[in-house]
Amino acid sequence: MRKLEQLYEGKAKKVFRTDDPKKLIVDYKDDATAFNGVKKGQIVGKGVVNNTMSNILFQMLETKGVPTHFVEQLSDRETVVKAVEIVPLEVIVRNVSAGSFAKRYGVEEGIEFDRPSFETSYKNDDLGDPLMCESHALALKIVTEEQLETIKKYALIINDTLKEFFLEKGLKLIDFKIEFGLYDGEIILADEISPDTCRLWDVETNEKMDKDRFRRDLGNVEETYAEVLRRVKGN
Ligand code: TMP
Repeated sequence: MRKLEQLYEGKAKKVFRTDDPKKLIVDYKDDATAFNGVKKGQIVGKGVVNNTMSNILFQMLETKGVPTHFVEQLSDRETVVKAVEIVPLEVIVRNVSAGSFAKRYGVEEGIEFDRPSFETSYKNDDLGDPLMCESHALALKIVTEEQLETIKKYALIINDTLKEFFLEKGLKLIDFKIEFGLYDGEIILADEISPDTCRLWDVETNEKMDKDRFRRDLGNVEETYAEVLRRVKGN
């Protein structure tokens, strides 16, 4: 497979065309942003961590019946993926209050939910990714009812699978954001699952082991990303 010209550069990844029109190569960067790009920085080694971790998790999710865009890891930072048409919804599952949930409702972080919550935001940087209820997503034909049901079904399998997996690694899965795409007319998991897109707290200390260390200037950012990958790779 040949890596051809760059199609797109996002905040955390570059995307390249290949000689196969149905495949792309993503190249993970160390660049980090927060608050819709207002805060900018670098997390040295993040691209390697996110690429490797996401590929491990996507391959595990495939075995649980969740189709993903993963094809093949090419290098520390590069992966071949299926070329999907991204569904412009950020799908967020929460097990414990944190982040924008805690802020919106004026509650503390760390409240454990009896059942996971499910929400969607409209993926649009100019609008700041606003929360979007299901009927609005349907009204704007962003998804069909059937696609939305599939997305929900996969989101819950992903939550159950990842919660159990991370717990074995001494990490509590607080919440995460995922994105889906359409490939041959079917919904498949796309984008990434990494410390950029999940909240993970150490089970013993409740220490934050994710991008909140960068967002909130908590220090030890690089070390934490490396530690999460070490745990994910370990048995
Ligand atoms: P939130 O509490 O800020 O809404 O974030 C919920 C989850 O989504 C959290 O795990 C971090 C992740 N997330 C992203 O992956 N990208 C984003 O742009 C934002 C705001 C959150």
